[in-house]
Amino acid sequence: MTVLGIESSCDETSAAVLRDGALLANIISSQFFHHAYGGIVPELASRAHVRAIVPIIREALAEAGISLREVDLVAATQGPGLIGSLLVGLNTGKAIASSLGVPFLGVHHIEAHMFSTFLSDPHPDFPFLSLVVSGGHTLLVHVRGVADYQTVGSTIDDAAGEAFDKVGKMLGFGFPGGPEIDRRAALGAANAIPFPRPLLDSGDFGFSFSGLKTSVLYYLRKHHRDALQDHSAIPDDTLNDICASFQRAVTDVLITKTLRAADALGVRDIALAGGVSANRELRARLTAAGAREGRRVFVPDAAFTTDNAAMIAKLASMRHAHGAVGSLHAPAFARVSPDMRHATA
Ligand code: KG4
Ligand code: ZN
Repeated sequence: MTVLGIESSCDETSAAVLRDGALLANIISSQFFHHAYGGIVPELASRAHVRAIVPIIREALAEAGISLREVDLVAATQGPGLIGSLLVGLNTGKAIASSLGVPFLGVHHIEAHMFSTFLSDPHPDFPFLSLVVSGGHTLLVHVRGVADYQTVGSTIDDAAGEAFDKVGKMLGFGFPGGPEIDRRAALGAANAIPFPRPLLDSGDFGFSFSGLKTSVLYYLRKHHRDALQDHSAIPDDTLNDICASFQRAVTDVLITKTLRAADALGVRDIALAGGVSANRELRARLTAAGAREGRRVFVPDAAFTTDNAAMIAKLASMRHAHGAVGSLHAPAFARVSPDMRHATA
């Protein structure tokens, strides 16, 4: 079984080839030009996907050493994401599937992130708890099997990645802010500034990161008023301390709530997923904290943390093995209820 996966939900164009479970290629092209705008410009993203998609698919096939005719199943991201971007990959995938006469499977982007640890060995056993931390989502999902999920917690406002990006912007870093905060946090003191741990003891598994972001803003206004206009006004050491303290607050909440949810659900295995799973402190501390409680924590390989088509191809192959037949009518969707039921129906 040879699967061609396509991902174009946001600012990355990606194509991957998976043959009998082995990943043969995973090409990712990032749209760096958005950096100049401080965020993603949807219309420009769509146009860049149109230019990139065919060359990227060709490159993936060439790297895998296969011809298009050998593809048995085509899969592309249906959503959630930017609708114009999604339509490019989705329609390209449908066109290829229809011309080859093979099935087409629309894949849910967040669901694919949840299975990104299945691209490596060992991977979690069912049932496991997935902590999805991406630019748009923060979710705790009880994964009982393929297409059998229950969302047990989500964010009531900003996603974790969004908080990293907004704080990064306040501090004058490029977009996205996560990687630079991660880098600087390793150089700063995590206990320098007592930022709040929102909803830490709320008694449920909900998250909220908007107030934490505002606390960083108030801190800057109070102690480094000029910095909001001129970022070079903050000494490097202070910047590092702010990053370390902010990141410690985010990871404290994520780790504490994830472990409590695993306990409440009685699951042993935890899988981290989404762009923020690249964060070194989150990976290391969640793994260590889980191990102390006898849990196995799985983190995706670096190449599978941020958006990639390998995870799309992987989930498609797993869903196909579970009887999903797919459809050329699979629509694109910008948003979707977090339990993903409709995407897996
Ligand atoms: O999953 P993803 O690539 O895209 C979405 O589906 O949203 O996640 C992107 C997010 C961005 O908010 C980015 O700042 C964050 O992942 N991110 C990080 C790191 N690398 C990427 N956040 C914290 N630390 C990192 N090392
Ligand atoms: Zn993503």
